[in-house]
Formats: sequence, C-alpha cells, structure tokens
Amino acid sequence: MTPFPVGAHVSSDIQSGISVDSDVRDRTVLVTGGAGFIGSHLARRLAGENEVRVLDDLTTGTADAVPDAVTLIEGNVTDRATVERAMSGVDIVFHQAAVVSVEESVADPPRSHRVNVDGTLTVLEAARDADARVVLASSAAVYGDPKSLPVTIDEPMTPRSPYGADKVAADAYARAYEATYGISVVALRYFNAYGPGQRGPYSGVIEAFLRRAVAGEPLTVHGDGAQTRDFIHVSDIVRANLAAATTDHTGTAYNIGTGESVTVNELAAIIGEETGGDTDVRHEAARPGDVRHSRAAADRARDQLGFEARVSLREGIEDLISRRNISDHGPATEGSITQGLPDSDDE
Ligand code: NAD
Ligand code: UD1
Repeated sequence: MTPFPVGAHVSSDIQSGISVDSDVRDRTVLVTGGAGFIGSHLARRLAGENEVRVLDDLTTGTADAVPDAVTLIEGNVTDRATVERAMSGVDIVFHQAAVVSVEESVADPPRSHRVNVDGTLTVLEAARDADARVVLASSAAVYGDPKSLPVTIDEPMTPRSPYGADKVAADAYARAYEATYGISVVALRYFNAYGPGQRGPYSGVIEAFLRRAVAGEPLTVHGDGAQTRDFIHVSDIVRANLAAATTDHTGTAYNIGTGESVTVNELAAIIGEETGGDTDVRHEAARPGDVRHSRAAADRARDQLGFEARVSLREGIEDLISRRNISDHGPATEGSITQGLPDSDDE
C-alpha cells in the first residue's frame, strides 16, 4: 500500500511526512496540549528519536491522537504539581495547551485567561526549575488590527479579543523569563494553522468550510468575507517548532506564517472549486473580536530560524480533500498515514 495515497499535485513535504531543516534527537521533551491538533503532529514527529511526554486535559484533544510511543499525562496546565511532575528531567517544552478559540474566549474570558495566561506562567515556572527550553505557541492574534501589512514583530500589540490579550501576556511572560531568569525561550506567533486532524466545533475556517462543502451545505461567511488571513499548514508549523528548539536566537518572538493572505470569500471560492460542487455561500453577522486583516512578514523567521513555509494553500486544501475522499471509500487510516500527518477527523 502506498504510504499516503495523494495526487501528484501535493508537495513532497506532505507526501513524505515532514522534512526538517533542524533536528531534535535524544532529548526528553514535553508537549503540552499534545493531544490536540498542532501538539499531536509535533509529538508524532518527535517520537522515536526522543523521549516524548504529552500533558493534556483532553478538553479539545483526544487520547487517540497521541502516538503509542508517547507518554500521555492527563492533567491541567494550571496545576503546579502536575506540571512539575510532567517537566521532571525535561530538556525542551513545547507549550501548545490553550483555549484556542477566539469565540470561546469572548464567551468566557476568565476561563481562557486561567488556561492561557496562568497555565503559561505555571509552565514557565516549572521550566525555570527544570532549566528547560520553552517554545511557546503564541499567535498572530497578539497584533489585533495591525497598522501595516505584512505585520512585523515590531508592530504594537493591540489585541481585539480576550484570546489575543491572553496571548500578549503569555508571549511577554515567556520573553521576560529569558531576560530575568536566563532560561531559553522562543515565542512562535502562528498565523492561521490548518491541516489534517483539526476537529471540533471551533476547528478553524478551512475545516469548517470543507465539512460543509462535503455535506452539500452552504458555507457560512461571517461578515462581508473581505477579512484576510495567512493560512499556514501544520507541517510547516512543526518545522518551525523544531527550528525554535535548537536556535541560538532565543529570547524573542517570530511570526510563523507564509507571507501570503486570502480573503475569506476567496477561501470559500477555492474550496468550492476544489470540491467540484456548486457550493453556496451564506453571509452571517461578523464575529465579535474578529481581526480584519492578517499577513505575516516572514523574513525574520527565515533569516534567524532558517524557517520558511513550504506548503501552498492550494496544496494543503487538495491534500485535505484527498484524505476525505479516501475516507469516504473505506478506512484510510491504517497504513495510509505518514509520520506527523494523521488523517482528518471527519466528525
Ligand atoms: P487544539 O485545541 O487542537 O489543542 C489545544 C490542546 O490543549 C488540546 O488538546 C486541549 O485538550 C489542550 N488543553 C486545553 N486546555 C488545557 C489545560 N487547561 N490543560 C491541559 N491541556 C489543555 O488547538 P491547536 O490549534 O492545536 O492550538 C495549539 C496552540 O497553538 C494553542 O496554544 C493555540 O493558541 C496556538 N495557535 C493556534 C492557531 C491555529 O490556527 N490553530 C493559531 C495561532 C496559535
Ligand atoms: C485562528 C485560531 C486562533 C489563532 C489565530 C491566529 C482557530 C480556531 N483559531 O483564529 O487560535 O490564534 O487564528 O491568527 O484555529 N469564519 C467564517 N466562517 C466560519 C468560520 C470562520 O467566515 O465558518 C471567519 C472568521 O470570522 C474569521 C476567519 O474566518 O474572520 C478565520 O476564522 P478562524 O478560522 O476561526 O480563525 P481566527 O479567528 O482567525
């Protein structure tokens, strides 16, 4: 059986799993949120060559996303004793656990603060004790509506949502821990991530649109659809994390995006074309807290981390569709999954 039956259009990065510029081997690593979308890809990539632990409370993640070779510690990142236990002997922690949805943070800001800010502080404290490097999942949401595009890391942080405010605090705390306590820290400001394994009601717009298009339902665009996003494939996000794990350029933040953006209307049209159907679009009220425009200046990550995104939006979407088509015709999971790239969840 071919390891991953996809069309010729899909780049070698997706076909062959994740090729990396910088490697992490023979380390003890902790991935918080490793049962979730990005964290599970990262844990899978690191497993085999490292001792990998995942700390996750399974609120949005699932135990079946955690590879067999990885130790799952079920617990909360805000619980100091649990985090200390998980961090014991750890060289590098990839801190992914968070309330990820802007909408959820708008509905319950104290909860997202507890997880996203208090949780990050708990991880930083434990990392300080263990002298572990911290690679933090920050976000483009820290910028809110930037004054100029593409957005550089020197742009003022003016978040538009409680989630964005949480990430400003987490990002600032992380960098302050290097300045104050000398532990190595890198904050990665991911732009909009997508790829196989994104799931749940707050899964992100690409997964939401694909689910609807495949079900023959209209795509729901919030607001006028002229808002823009820089969509980055999860395999590229994993590569950025690996680069951050070994770089000498720590104590700072990097934008992790492609440097390209599309409007939500353009995205709907691409998904309509790629799914080959007469996909209808329905406009709904704009979402509170929604950022208008977002596009990364990607040169700093390229120059200092040696990181550049490789998977184009079309390639990434075509890959997701081919996985769904395969799933429609029987089980595609066993033997058809490349390292680091589990199948989409079709819920
Ligand atoms: P996800 O929801 O799939 O993963 C988050 C994981 O954290 C889940 O497995 C969840 O169960 C776990 N978790 C939540 N609260 C927890 C807690 N209190 N204790 C322990 N575990 C907890 O989301 P994702 O898309 O994989 O996001 C990973 C990280 O990347 C997050 O920090 C998110 O803010 C950041 N990020 C994501 C995107 C994106 O587009 N998906 C963009 C920018 C930044
Ligand atoms: C996403 C991430 C967030 C991250 C940020 C970085 C998710 C769930 N959220 O937020 O963690 O920090 O990127 O930039 O991955 N939309 C529709 N119809 C839909 C769904 C969404 O029109 O059915 C619109 C939204 O209103 C928004 C855009 O699509 O304008 C993107 O939304 P979404 O995928 O939820 O991501 P962000 O809110 O940008």
